[in-house]
Amino acid sequence: SPSYRIAVIPGDGIGTEVMPPAQKLLELAGTRYGFSFDWQELEWGCEYYSRTGRMMPEDGIEQLAECDQIFLGAVGFPGVPDHVSLWGLLIPIRRAFRQYINLRPVRLLAGIESPLRKVPAGGIDFLVVRENNEGEYSESGGRLYRGMPQEMAIQESIFTRFGVERAMNYAINLAEQRKGQLASATKSNGIIHTMPFWDEILRDLAKDHPNLTVSEYHIDALAALFVLDPARFDVVVASNLFGDILTDLGAAIIGSIGIAPSANLNPEKEFPSMFEPVHGSAPDIAGQGKANPLGQVWAASMMLDHLGHEDAGRDLIAAMEQVLTETDIRTPDLGGTATTDEVSDALVTAFESLSPAGVEK
Ligand code: NAD
Ligand code: IPM
Ligand code: MN
Repeated sequence: SPSYRIAVIPGDGIGTEVMPPAQKLLELAGTRYGFSFDWQELEWGCEYYSRTGRMMPEDGIEQLAECDQIFLGAVGFPGVPDHVSLWGLLIPIRRAFRQYINLRPVRLLAGIESPLRKVPAGGIDFLVVRENNEGEYSESGGRLYRGMPQEMAIQESIFTRFGVERAMNYAINLAEQRKGQLASATKSNGIIHTMPFWDEILRDLAKDHPNLTVSEYHIDALAALFVLDPARFDVVVASNLFGDILTDLGAAIIGSIGIAPSANLNPEKEFPSMFEPVHGSAPDIAGQGKANPLGQVWAASMMLDHLGHEDAGRDLIAAMEQVLTETDIRTPDLGGTATTDEVSDALVTAFESLSPAGVEK
């Protein structure tokens, strides 16, 4: 039976609290479906930085390259500037392993009421495809005239035809397997070089897909529609920064930023992919037992899908939905009073009560 070597980076803050429950459920899934995990636990992050001056060892990327996949909690904590911590760990991994797709489902789970009015069960179900390697997240630019009246900062966005096309092709392919509707986040009215280029590339690609419905939205108007009419979306393709912002909004409309998952994919499977929640290290609640583990567990489910164990992945979602529909055990972000551990125990009980393939006994 297969054994998967998984790099586990709990990271900072609540990352270390939501990681163990997700690993526990992965173990149970492996036992049920006949595979196992060889965990490579890596204590990288801001504490490591305070000891060593680095977020990960010098050969960190080489160590990760030996693993099948990477399972990450969250990175960043007060004491280390965010641009230092994130450019020292999360972003280099996304780039080194050509994880150029960041796939972020926005789906209202059974048992959760959306904070939006009048959203029926199943009323929100779309995927955001976020370009994950370039765009607004660039090292090009700099700070000039520090401390002088003319002080300035310049940040260049870099969009390559190659980078944009591969993200769009992935999104087009996904949309064709779903309802055939692709929404593109643009801002070609205000950002006059990169965004018209983005639109042009999509229009070129769309010509070869006559059955696909492509809609272009300005990012500002698109954000409003996530709130006013989320049911209209099937697949949304967005640049790195726009996709980042849209997916915290997406997490909010499905109930909490503590639920939403994120898969940093190398679709060719030449390199490990990385699975993590959308949320960060939540310093405001770290160490209090309040962290919602559902985002990390949903990310675990996406990792199982990527490993080809879709049946096991479905069971993790089924366990989450069983806890949400049949109990009121939930963390404060979802209006409950349960702790991380109580939700985790309930997930284990629910998982064990499922018969394989998500059908209840
Ligand atoms: P955050 O996502 O950590 O927190 C935003 C808000 O959501 C906070 O009020 C927090 O308590 C709440 N929240 C987040 N996750 C939750 C959970 N699982 N359960 C309950 N509540 C939850 O965003 P932030 O405050 O902007 O960032 C904090 C740190 O995390 C920063 O250093 C930031 O750079 C980093 N960060 C890392 C990642 C990542 O590793 N991928 C993602 C986002 C932010
Ligand atoms: C995310 C995070 C990161 C991003 C930050 C922490 C650099 O917000 O994964 O959504 O913007 O990609
Ligand atoms: Mn984000």
